[in-house]
Amino acid sequence: MAQRSGQHALVIASNRLPVRFAVTDDGIVSEPSAGGLASALHAIRGDAVWIGWPGTVVPEGLVDEATELLARDNFVPVFLSAEEEEEFYGRACNDTLWPLLHYFGDRLRLTPEAWERYVRVNERFADRILEHCGPDSRVWVHDFHLMLVPAILRRRAPGLTIGFFLHTPFPSSEVYRLLPARAAVLRGMLGADYVSFQVGDYARHFRSSCLRVLGLDSDPDGLDYDGRRIGIGVDPIGIDTRGFAAALADPETASLVESLEEQYEGRKLVLGVERLDYTKGIPQKLLAFERLLEREPERARTTTMLQVLVPSRLDSTEYLQQRDEIELLIAHINGRFGQPGVTPVEYLHRSISRKALVALYRRADVMMVTPLRDGMNLVAQEYVLCQSAPGPPGRWRGALVLSEFAGAAQVLPGAILVNPWDIDGVAERLVAALELEPRERRRRLETMARRVNALDTHRWADGFLTRLGRSARAYRRFRPPPEAEGAVRERLVRRFARARSRTVFLDYDGTLREIEPHPDLAAPTPEIRSLLRSLAALPRTDVHLVSGRRRAELERWFGQLPIHLSAEHGYLAKAPGGEWVPLLELDLSWMRPIERLLRRVAADVPGAHVERKSCSVAWHYREAEPEYGTWRARELLNDLGQHLTGAPAEILMGRRVVEVRARGVDKGVYVRHVFPEGKEPTRFVIGFGDDRTDHDLLDALPAGSVAVHVGGLRPSGRVSARAREHVHVVGPGEVRELLRELVAAARQAAR
Ligand code: UDP
Ligand code: G6P
Repeated sequence: MAQRSGQHALVIASNRLPVRFAVTDDGIVSEPSAGGLASALHAIRGDAVWIGWPGTVVPEGLVDEATELLARDNFVPVFLSAEEEEEFYGRACNDTLWPLLHYFGDRLRLTPEAWERYVRVNERFADRILEHCGPDSRVWVHDFHLMLVPAILRRRAPGLTIGFFLHTPFPSSEVYRLLPARAAVLRGMLGADYVSFQVGDYARHFRSSCLRVLGLDSDPDGLDYDGRRIGIGVDPIGIDTRGFAAALADPETASLVESLEEQYEGRKLVLGVERLDYTKGIPQKLLAFERLLEREPERARTTTMLQVLVPSRLDSTEYLQQRDEIELLIAHINGRFGQPGVTPVEYLHRSISRKALVALYRRADVMMVTPLRDGMNLVAQEYVLCQSAPGPPGRWRGALVLSEFAGAAQVLPGAILVNPWDIDGVAERLVAALELEPRERRRRLETMARRVNALDTHRWADGFLTRLGRSARAYRRFRPPPEAEGAVRERLVRRFARARSRTVFLDYDGTLREIEPHPDLAAPTPEIRSLLRSLAALPRTDVHLVSGRRRAELERWFGQLPIHLSAEHGYLAKAPGGEWVPLLELDLSWMRPIERLLRRVAADVPGAHVERKSCSVAWHYREAEPEYGTWRARELLNDLGQHLTGAPAEILMGRRVVEVRARGVDKGVYVRHVFPEGKEPTRFVIGFGDDRTDHDLLDALPAGSVAVHVGGLRPSGRVSARAREHVHVVGPGEVRELLRELVAAARQAAR
């Protein structure tokens, strides 16, 4: 029997387990779960432990029995109370996240209590997951029910390898931001090492939401957040191709296909199979079939549509209404076009067995899959597989009519694509599918079958886990495990405290102070000032604030403090109580034309503005529309490259700023000005920085110094790792905490 808790190499977590329980007078009855997640994951789980909800409220007296039953398959239950089922599953998941992720913004029904419940149930899942994790476990979290789980796990077990896959679409940020908890949900997902989606569009929307909601820039592979690198990927899910091929080859299936042949002899069968859900576009499909019959009523004798509607979420009034609407429409079409012995639309409202399903797929002349939105849609892939695999007669018979709003449309190039809202268009495409030449049918099916076999769920899982491993390793390579980090920190504090003399170089924005939406808002807090004061008050300790900001700002904010200042990336320097002096002589003849160019482009981009400094000129776009701003910044880079050919200037890309600066100026100039001869052996030198301009500062530190990397900044690689010690901290909050620790330890040592 499987372990109840303990360490597992792979822990899968989803709300839905592959089985669901019903509690009857005879005890617990188990049946297979409906839906794509359960059907695709079921095949790949191997030795993994799978944590999920058994689908119903299990009374206290049956909890042990239920747990035992599930343990036989390596499933571990998270039991939900009736209130949790109603508020977490019903409200927060099905009435809020589900419509939101599928672009049904007007269906959101969220209450604060339901969201509160969502948070708590996510915490319970995380508790249960951690019971089964060891230090080397990989956790794979699935779908919209558990979007906060990665961050909760990261908080409690920082070194864990965590992947997140979203089975649904991720909508445009314009829709996503309707969610009151939009920021918390993004941060929840970003607790993972690797976050992945069904198709590229969803990953793009996710990155754009991270930018607009959290202000996080990303590149196509991922983003830096919370001191970590998070991979963002695309892994379209597939089906259990072997399982479906085996079901198709089963003799029982052959006899089911044979009886279907008899039953529909001389008739074309148009098949629809979906969970009852308003996202699936079933009314639209029925309306299109009705339109076809209006145009060609005689088709009612030769064509039957069979709609299999798998019961789903029937506790929700929205779903009950959808069922009623579908049933009324079917009755209406049959009433209008039926004749004695002729029922144009046949309808089953129940689950069907795998073999019955496979037989229907084999027999159907046209499969109609017309969701208004669908993360992937596995029914479409299953149909292609069952039309193309060896087995009972009827191979290569069918055609697939597929909504362009299903993820599947991006992976099935031979489908006949439709816009489900265009009822006339769907009716026309349905006729085209019914009339398609046999050779053309086969050609399309062959093309699609190659893709379906390549997408296979086993390959999908392997691919996901490989990319998860890669993302997690990349992060760990540059950041030691938390246990080792503790030791590094302790040694650092000891060395600092014992040092005879000390020099501290500090970047300001993003290092000592959090980045704000506008630079003017990032003024130093009283806490920062007093911290700088107490650092500088330590015996034989010099503090240097090295910033890219202009001297006037530094003067206003820090001029009264007993610290050294450097403005404009090391170009200007000022000792405590002294005057500002430039450290270099520069040719600035290129500046005026470049400033004119930047001003011209800024005039075209609302929100962008130009800042002129002594030896540089900057184009800021943090207040511009984020994506447009990025796009124009890229264009600007090209133009600048051409204008600057041969000029003694260079281009810097900062956070939402493009800056052109005189060549030879960088924060390293300042460090070398402080230590022209290198440092004396007893002096302890430490530098802090968070962005690429700080690489110059950290790289210029004399041998034997400590380089503190803030946020996602990695060592530049230009200086041998042995020449200095590297420490990583998460963000400005942790920098200040570390500085406080250093001050306290040094004071203690001085006593
Ligand atoms: N399915 C099911 N019970 C049935 C008929 C079908 O569970 O009675 C399966 C079907 O084989 C497919 C899944 O339900 O694997 C539906 O997945 P899809 O991705 O098409 O949509 P979802 O229901 O996940 O939104
Ligand atoms: C979709 C979701 C799954 C869910 C399935 C069935 O495929 O992405 O997470 O399990 O629908 O819905 P249900 O509410 O019954 O779990």
